Amino acid sequence: MEKRWTQDNLTSLQSNILAEEQKYPGATGEFSWILSAISLATKAIGNKVRCARIQDVIGEVGETNIQGEIQQKLDVIANEIIMRCLGDRENIGVLASEENETPFLLRRRVEGGRYAVLFDPLDGSSNIDSSVGVGTIFSVLRLSDEGSREEAMLSRGKEQVAAGYVLYGSSTVLVLTTGNGVDMFVLDQSIGSFVLVSKGIQIPPDNRTYSINEAYTNMFSDGIQQYLGWAHQNNYSSRYIGSMVADVHRILLKGGVFLYPPTTDNPEGKLRLMYEANPMAMIIEQAGGKAVAKGKRILDINPDGLHQRTSVLLGSTDQVDAVLQHLT
Ligand code: AHG
Ligand code: MN
Ligand code: MN
Repeated sequence: MEKRWTQDNLTSLQSNILAEEQKYPGATGEFSWILSAISLATKAIGNKVRCARIQDVIGEVGETNIQGEIQQKLDVIANEIIMRCLGDRENIGVLASEENETPFLLRRRVEGGRYAVLFDPLDGSSNIDSSVGVGTIFSVLRLSDEGSREEAMLSRGKEQVAAGYVLYGSSTVLVLTTGNGVDMFVLDQSIGSFVLVSKGIQIPPDNRTYSINEAYTNMFSDGIQQYLGWAHQNNYSSRYIGSMVADVHRILLKGGVFLYPPTTDNPEGKLRLMYEANPMAMIIEQAGGKAVAKGKRILDINPDGLHQRTSVLLGSTDQVDAVLQHLT
Protein backbone atom coordinates (compact mmCIF):
# COMPACT_ATOMS: atom_id res chain seq x y z
CA MET A 1 0.00 0.00 0.00
CA GLU A 2 1.65 3.27 -1.06
CA LYS A 3 2.07 5.82 1.75
CA ARG A 4 0.58 9.24 0.97
CA TRP A 5 2.35 12.42 2.15
CA THR A 6 -0.15 14.05 4.53
CA GLN A 7 1.97 16.64 6.35
CA ASP A 8 1.82 20.35 5.57
CA ASN A 9 4.16 21.26 2.76
CA LEU A 10 6.94 23.78 3.25
CA THR A 11 6.13 26.46 0.67
CA SER A 12 8.27 29.57 0.25
CA LEU A 13 7.05 32.93 -1.04
CA GLN A 14 8.99 32.25 -4.24
CA SER A 15 7.43 28.86 -4.91
CA ASN A 16 3.97 30.15 -4.01
CA ILE A 17 4.31 32.98 -6.53
CA LEU A 18 5.54 30.58 -9.21
CA ALA A 19 2.67 28.19 -8.43
CA GLU A 20 0.23 31.10 -8.80
CA GLU A 21 1.84 32.02 -12.12
CA GLN A 22 1.32 28.48 -13.43
CA LYS A 23 -2.40 29.23 -13.33
CA TYR A 24 -1.94 31.89 -16.01
CA PRO A 25 -0.61 30.45 -19.29
CA GLY A 26 0.34 33.95 -20.45
CA ALA A 27 2.31 34.69 -17.28
CA THR A 28 5.84 35.76 -18.08
CA GLY A 29 7.40 35.31 -14.65
CA GLU A 30 8.29 38.99 -14.57
CA PHE A 31 5.92 39.51 -11.70
CA SER A 32 7.76 37.14 -9.37
CA TRP A 33 10.91 39.07 -10.30
CA ILE A 34 9.41 42.16 -8.62
CA LEU A 35 8.04 40.31 -5.60
CA SER A 36 11.36 38.56 -4.98
CA ALA A 37 13.03 41.99 -4.89
CA ILE A 38 10.43 43.16 -2.36
CA SER A 39 11.10 40.02 -0.31
CA LEU A 40 14.86 40.71 -0.35
CA ALA A 41 14.38 44.39 0.57
CA THR A 42 12.03 43.70 3.46
CA LYS A 43 14.31 41.04 4.93
CA ALA A 44 17.09 43.61 4.92
CA ILE A 45 14.84 46.31 6.41
CA GLY A 46 13.60 43.93 9.10
CA ASN A 47 17.18 43.21 10.07
CA LYS A 48 17.94 46.95 10.33
CA VAL A 49 14.80 47.56 12.42
CA ARG A 50 15.77 44.79 14.87
CA CYS A 51 19.35 46.10 15.21
CA ALA A 52 18.41 49.79 15.16
CA ARG A 53 19.31 50.63 18.75
CA ILE A 54 22.50 48.56 18.62
CA GLN A 55 23.62 50.27 15.41
CA ASP A 56 22.42 53.63 16.69
CA VAL A 57 20.12 54.26 13.76
CA ILE A 58 17.09 55.21 15.79
CA GLY A 59 15.91 58.77 16.12
CA GLU A 60 15.52 61.61 13.70
CA VAL A 61 17.58 62.53 10.70
CA GLY A 62 16.99 66.18 11.42
CA GLU A 63 15.16 66.85 8.15
CA THR A 64 11.55 66.77 7.04
CA ASN A 65 10.28 64.85 4.01
CA ILE A 66 7.85 65.94 1.29
CA GLN A 67 5.04 65.21 3.74
CA GLY A 68 6.39 67.91 6.04
CA GLU A 69 7.05 65.17 8.58
CA ILE A 70 10.27 64.73 10.51
CA GLN A 71 12.22 61.86 8.94
CA GLN A 72 13.52 59.09 11.14
CA LYS A 73 16.92 57.64 10.26
CA LEU A 74 15.24 54.31 9.53
CA ASP A 75 12.80 55.98 7.09
CA VAL A 76 15.78 56.99 4.98
CA ILE A 77 17.62 53.67 5.41
CA ALA A 78 14.53 51.64 4.50
CA ASN A 79 13.94 53.86 1.49
CA GLU A 80 17.50 53.34 0.25
CA ILE A 81 17.32 49.58 0.76
CA ILE A 82 14.16 49.35 -1.35
CA MET A 83 15.63 51.52 -4.10
CA ARG A 84 18.76 49.37 -4.19
CA CYS A 85 16.80 46.09 -4.31
CA LEU A 86 14.18 47.16 -6.87
CA GLY A 87 16.23 49.55 -8.97
CA ASP A 88 17.89 46.83 -11.04
CA ARG A 89 14.72 44.90 -11.89
CA GLU A 90 14.39 45.63 -15.62
CA ASN A 91 10.62 45.42 -15.69
CA ILE A 92 10.16 48.25 -13.21
CA GLY A 93 9.70 51.59 -14.95
CA VAL A 94 8.86 53.79 -11.97
CA LEU A 95 9.62 53.69 -8.25
CA ALA A 96 7.63 56.06 -6.03
CA SER A 97 8.16 56.49 -2.32
CA GLU A 98 6.51 58.32 0.54
CA GLU A 99 9.97 59.71 1.28
CA ASN A 100 10.66 61.22 -2.15
CA GLU A 101 8.80 64.18 -3.61
CA THR A 102 8.96 62.89 -7.18
CA PRO A 103 9.00 59.35 -8.54
CA PHE A 104 12.19 57.76 -9.89
CA LEU A 105 11.74 57.11 -13.61
CA LEU A 106 13.98 54.08 -14.17
CA ARG A 107 13.09 52.88 -17.66
CA ARG A 108 10.65 53.78 -20.41
CA ARG A 109 7.95 51.29 -21.20
CA VAL A 110 9.62 50.48 -24.54
CA GLU A 111 12.73 49.55 -22.56
CA GLY A 112 10.72 47.05 -20.57
CA GLY A 113 9.66 49.26 -17.69
CA ARG A 114 6.16 47.85 -17.49
CA TYR A 115 5.43 48.26 -13.77
CA ALA A 116 5.36 50.98 -11.16
CA VAL A 117 6.06 50.08 -7.54
CA LEU A 118 4.86 52.57 -4.93
CA PHE A 119 5.79 52.19 -1.29
CA ASP A 120 5.84 53.47 2.22
CA PRO A 121 9.28 52.23 3.19
CA LEU A 122 8.68 52.45 6.90
CA ASP A 123 5.16 52.85 8.23
CA GLY A 124 4.67 53.76 11.88
CA SER A 125 8.05 55.45 12.19
CA SER A 126 7.04 57.23 15.39
CA ASN A 127 6.99 53.80 17.03
CA ILE A 128 10.52 52.70 16.09
CA ASP A 129 12.29 53.95 19.21
CA SER A 130 9.93 52.03 21.49
CA SER A 131 10.27 48.76 19.52
CA VAL A 132 6.58 48.76 18.62
CA GLY A 133 5.59 47.03 15.35
CA VAL A 134 6.38 48.99 12.19
CA GLY A 135 6.19 47.91 8.58
CA THR A 136 6.64 48.42 4.85
CA ILE A 137 3.64 48.85 2.53
CA PHE A 138 3.82 48.31 -1.25
CA SER A 139 1.57 48.67 -4.26
CA VAL A 140 2.27 47.40 -7.79
CA LEU A 141 0.67 49.01 -10.86
CA ARG A 142 1.07 48.09 -14.51
CA LEU A 143 2.19 51.12 -16.52
CA SER A 144 -0.25 51.68 -19.36
CA ASP A 145 0.93 52.70 -22.85
CA GLU A 146 -0.67 56.07 -23.11
CA GLY A 147 0.43 59.19 -21.28
CA SER A 148 3.56 59.84 -19.30
CA ARG A 149 4.74 57.41 -16.67
CA GLU A 150 3.79 59.88 -13.95
CA GLU A 151 0.21 59.96 -15.26
CA ALA A 152 0.17 56.19 -15.82
CA MET A 153 1.29 55.72 -12.24
CA LEU A 154 -1.68 57.69 -10.89
CA SER A 155 -4.08 54.81 -11.48
CA ARG A 156 -7.02 54.05 -9.25
CA GLY A 157 -6.50 51.47 -6.52
CA LYS A 158 -8.63 48.93 -8.36
CA GLU A 159 -5.96 48.85 -11.10
CA GLN A 160 -3.34 47.50 -8.69
CA VAL A 161 -1.90 44.16 -9.84
CA ALA A 162 -0.53 43.43 -6.37
CA ALA A 163 -0.51 44.94 -2.91
CA GLY A 164 0.98 43.93 0.38
CA TYR A 165 2.85 44.77 3.50
CA VAL A 166 5.55 43.41 5.75
CA LEU A 167 5.06 43.85 9.50
CA TYR A 168 8.26 43.87 11.58
CA GLY A 169 6.59 42.72 14.78
CA SER A 170 7.17 39.83 17.16
CA SER A 171 7.63 37.95 13.90
CA THR A 172 8.26 39.30 10.41
CA VAL A 173 5.05 38.74 8.48
CA LEU A 174 4.48 39.34 4.77
CA VAL A 175 0.88 39.66 3.60
CA LEU A 176 0.26 39.70 -0.15
CA THR A 177 -2.58 39.77 -2.62
CA THR A 178 -2.30 39.58 -6.41
CA GLY A 179 -6.07 39.78 -6.80
CA ASN A 180 -6.82 36.15 -5.97
CA GLY A 181 -7.21 36.29 -2.21
CA VAL A 182 -4.82 37.16 0.60
CA ASP A 183 -1.87 34.96 1.56
CA MET A 184 0.34 35.29 4.63
CA PHE A 185 4.01 34.32 5.02
CA VAL A 186 6.29 34.42 8.06
CA LEU A 187 10.04 34.89 7.81
CA ASP A 188 11.71 31.72 9.08
CA GLN A 189 15.01 33.21 10.26
CA SER A 190 16.63 29.76 10.40
CA ILE A 191 16.37 29.34 6.62
CA GLY A 192 16.05 33.02 5.64
CA SER A 193 12.80 32.46 3.72
CA PHE A 194 9.27 33.75 3.96
CA VAL A 195 7.24 30.55 4.37
CA LEU A 196 3.53 30.24 3.62
CA VAL A 197 1.41 30.01 6.77
CA SER A 198 -2.06 30.91 5.54
CA LYS A 199 -3.86 31.11 2.20
CA GLY A 200 -7.11 32.85 1.36
CA ILE A 201 -7.48 34.81 4.61
CA GLN A 202 -11.00 36.09 5.35
CA ILE A 203 -11.63 38.81 7.98
CA PRO A 204 -13.75 37.44 10.86
CA PRO A 205 -17.07 39.31 11.40
CA ASP A 206 -18.65 40.36 14.71
CA ASN A 207 -15.51 41.64 16.45
CA ARG A 208 -16.59 44.78 18.35
CA THR A 209 -13.18 46.44 18.37
CA TYR A 210 -12.47 49.88 16.89
CA SER A 211 -9.06 51.35 16.16
CA ILE A 212 -8.85 55.16 16.12
CA ASN A 213 -6.74 57.87 17.76
CA GLU A 214 -9.33 59.11 20.25
CA ALA A 215 -7.09 62.03 21.22
CA TYR A 216 -8.53 63.80 18.15
CA THR A 217 -12.18 63.19 19.15
CA ASN A 218 -12.98 66.91 19.35
CA MET A 219 -11.67 67.30 15.78
CA PHE A 220 -13.83 64.52 14.33
CA SER A 221 -17.18 65.09 12.59
CA ASP A 222 -20.39 64.80 14.60
CA GLY A 223 -21.07 61.45 12.91
CA ILE A 224 -17.78 59.91 14.07
CA GLN A 225 -18.28 61.31 17.57
CA GLN A 226 -21.78 59.84 17.55
CA TYR A 227 -20.39 56.45 16.46
CA LEU A 228 -17.81 56.52 19.29
CA GLY A 229 -20.52 57.35 21.83
CA TRP A 230 -22.61 54.45 20.48
CA ALA A 231 -19.61 52.08 20.60
CA HIS A 232 -18.88 53.06 24.20
CA GLN A 233 -22.46 52.00 25.05
CA ASN A 234 -22.30 48.75 23.08
CA ASN A 235 -19.46 46.67 24.56
CA TYR A 236 -16.73 47.73 22.13
CA SER A 237 -13.07 47.51 22.99
CA SER A 238 -10.39 49.76 21.55
CA ARG A 239 -6.99 48.88 20.08
CA TYR A 240 -4.76 51.54 18.53
CA ILE A 241 -1.06 50.97 17.87
CA GLY A 242 -0.39 54.02 15.70
CA SER A 243 1.29 51.96 12.98
CA MET A 244 -1.24 51.42 10.20
CA VAL A 245 0.40 48.13 9.22
CA ALA A 246 0.06 46.73 12.76
CA ASP A 247 -3.52 47.97 13.23
CA VAL A 248 -4.63 46.66 9.82
CA HIS A 249 -2.87 43.31 10.35
CA ARG A 250 -4.75 42.79 13.62
CA ILE A 251 -8.03 43.58 11.85
CA LEU A 252 -7.21 41.22 8.96
CA LEU A 253 -6.75 38.34 11.40
CA LYS A 254 -9.25 39.20 14.15
CA GLY A 255 -11.80 41.57 12.60
CA GLY A 256 -12.87 45.00 13.84
CA VAL A 257 -12.66 48.42 12.22
CA PHE A 258 -9.87 50.98 11.64
CA LEU A 259 -10.68 54.65 11.26
CA TYR A 260 -8.49 57.60 10.37
CA PRO A 261 -11.22 60.22 9.72
CA PRO A 262 -10.74 63.79 8.52
CA THR A 263 -9.71 66.13 11.34
CA THR A 264 -9.41 69.89 11.46
CA ASP A 265 -5.60 69.37 11.22
CA ASN A 266 -5.97 66.98 8.26
CA PRO A 267 -9.31 67.82 6.58
CA GLU A 268 -8.56 65.32 3.76
CA GLY A 269 -7.35 62.71 6.27
CA LYS A 270 -3.71 61.98 7.15
CA LEU A 271 -3.02 58.70 5.37
CA ARG A 272 -1.67 58.65 1.82
CA LEU A 273 -3.89 57.21 -0.88
CA MET A 274 -1.35 55.71 -3.28
CA TYR A 275 0.93 53.79 -0.92
CA GLU A 276 -1.04 53.37 2.31
CA ALA A 277 -4.81 53.42 1.72
CA ASN A 278 -4.92 51.74 -1.72
CA PRO A 279 -2.74 48.71 -0.94
CA MET A 280 -4.48 48.19 2.40
CA ALA A 281 -7.90 48.60 0.77
CA MET A 282 -7.06 45.94 -1.82
CA ILE A 283 -5.99 43.51 0.90
CA ILE A 284 -9.06 44.19 3.03
CA GLU A 285 -11.46 43.79 0.09
CA GLN A 286 -9.70 40.60 -1.06
CA ALA A 287 -10.21 39.29 2.49
CA GLY A 288 -13.96 39.99 2.27
CA GLY A 289 -13.92 43.35 4.08
CA LYS A 290 -14.75 46.95 3.13
CA ALA A 291 -12.55 50.05 2.71
CA VAL A 292 -14.13 53.49 2.17
CA ALA A 293 -13.29 57.16 2.37
CA LYS A 294 -16.10 59.65 2.91
CA GLY A 295 -18.56 56.90 2.00
CA LYS A 296 -16.81 56.11 -1.33
CA ARG A 297 -14.88 52.90 -2.11
CA ILE A 298 -11.18 53.79 -1.69
CA LEU A 299 -10.19 51.68 -4.70
CA ASP A 300 -12.44 53.81 -6.93
CA ILE A 301 -10.83 57.14 -6.00
CA ASN A 302 -9.30 58.88 -8.97
CA PRO A 303 -5.89 60.09 -7.74
CA ASP A 304 -4.64 63.52 -8.68
CA GLY A 305 -1.31 63.41 -6.91
CA LEU A 306 1.30 60.93 -5.73
CA HIS A 307 1.18 62.14 -2.11
CA GLN A 308 -2.54 62.81 -1.98
CA ARG A 309 -4.07 62.15 1.43
CA THR A 310 -7.38 60.48 2.23
CA SER A 311 -9.48 59.51 5.19
CA VAL A 312 -9.67 55.75 5.81
CA LEU A 313 -12.46 53.59 7.21
CA LEU A 314 -11.75 49.87 6.73
CA GLY A 315 -12.31 46.49 8.32
CA SER A 316 -14.89 43.73 8.42
CA THR A 317 -17.97 44.71 6.45
CA ASP A 318 -20.32 44.50 9.45
CA GLN A 319 -18.08 46.79 11.53
CA VAL A 320 -17.55 49.33 8.73
CA ASP A 321 -21.32 49.40 8.16
CA ALA A 322 -21.84 50.01 11.89
CA VAL A 323 -19.76 53.20 11.50
CA LEU A 324 -21.46 54.26 8.24
CA GLN A 325 -24.85 54.09 9.96
CA HIS A 326 -23.78 57.06 12.08
CA LEU A 327 -22.44 59.14 9.20
CA THR A 328 -25.10 61.15 7.36
P1 AHG B 1 4.30 56.87 8.57
O1 AHG B 1 5.11 56.43 9.74
O2 AHG B 1 4.62 56.12 7.31
O3 AHG B 1 4.31 58.37 8.41
O4 AHG B 1 2.78 56.47 8.87
C1 AHG B 1 2.23 56.79 10.10
C2 AHG B 1 0.74 56.75 9.96
C3 AHG B 1 0.15 55.36 10.12
O5 AHG B 1 1.11 54.35 10.24
C4 AHG B 1 -0.66 55.45 11.39
O6 AHG B 1 -1.89 54.80 11.24
C5 AHG B 1 -0.86 56.95 11.57
O7 AHG B 1 0.23 57.59 10.95
C6 AHG B 1 -0.89 57.32 13.02
O8 AHG B 1 -1.17 58.71 13.04
P2 AHG B 1 -1.41 59.43 14.46
O9 AHG B 1 -0.09 59.38 15.17
O10 AHG B 1 -1.86 60.80 14.08
O11 AHG B 1 -2.48 58.66 15.18
MN1 MN C 1 2.82 55.18 6.72
MN1 MN D 1 6.42 55.97 6.33
